[in-house]
Amino acid sequence: MKLTSNTILITGGASGIGYELTKQLTALGNTILITGRDQAKMDRAKAAFPKIHTFRSDVSDPKAIATLYEEITKEFPKLNILINNAGIMRKINVHDKAGSLEDLTREIEINLSGPIHMVKQFLPHLKTKSEAAIMNVSSGLAFVPLPISPVYCATKAGLHSFTESLRVQLKNTKVKVFDLAPPATQTELLDGFDVEDLKGASTMKVEDMVKAAIKGMQTDRFEIRPGQANQLKMMSRLAPGFILKQMSRSVDRMLRTLD
Ligand SMILES: NC(=O)c1ccc[n+]([C@@H]2O[C@H](COP(=O)([O-])OP(=O)(O)OC[C@H]3O[C@@H](n4cnc5c(N)ncnc54)[C@H](OP(=O)(O)O)[C@@H]3O)[C@@H](O)[C@H]2O)c1
Repeated sequence: MKLTSNTILITGGASGIGYELTKQLTALGNTILITGRDQAKMDRAKAAFPKIHTFRSDVSDPKAIATLYEEITKEFPKLNILINNAGIMRKINVHDKAGSLEDLTREIEINLSGPIHMVKQFLPHLKTKSEAAIMNVSSGLAFVPLPISPVYCATKAGLHSFTESLRVQLKNTKVKVFDLAPPATQTELLDGFDVEDLKGASTMKVEDMVKAAIKGMQTDRFEIRPGQANQLKMMSRLAPGFILKQMSRSVDRMLRTLD
């Protein structure tokens, strides 16, 4: 699809992959709207890219999504691309006795329910456009889990599945549906993980990952799997037991500390 002169909404656009999408898509001549919870972070992005527009909005709150929809469609009726990028990733030890049930599933509200609610809310508007797209940012971990982050990986497998169904349901509309499955990428998301957790993963530079994402959209590659994400998908089919064992080493270490 053409990636100039669009109006693009990017959730979680003030840092990491969202920030780099903001940077590269602004340079291509698009109008960019970003969301996030942390206003200071969005103010810093606005200072770097004065032409962007920021909206404080929590993707895990359906009421906030409804308000965002009202504001954006009124102010920016040309909106034609939605990028569901916001997400969090945590290590979770199921043996841990601390923590509430609500907290355990926080990633589901942000990474899975959030994009589904955003799609439902913005779809009628996107369907009115002559060219439109939705890109959901899943992960290479949608294909094989990293068991130290069990809930995160479940959300990404779920989002990948939802995106496939959405593409089929929208096949007779003008709305294209992309799934961006990044591999490990250098952003703050990985700050909570140590070298041992990520052993075997070659972390991609965010600039290169986003370049691949944009090229994928421009060439209508609907499932975009940069770098090692492609290998993860291939291995999940060719040698699922082997790749899961490789991905399980950090849990093996964690279990040894519990002995
Ligand atoms: N980095 C990787 O290795 C990697 C690999 C595969 C997939 N991904 C996916 O790529 C996406 C972006 O991640 P990243 O690496 O760029 O991480 P990041 O640097 O931590 O950025 C995540 C962004 O999401 C926003 N966010 C988090 N919760 C939110 C909420 N409830 N409502 C609105 N915004 C929220 C954050 O802003 P606020 O804190 O201000 O809300 C932040 O701007 C995520 O979906 C992630 O799962 C990343």
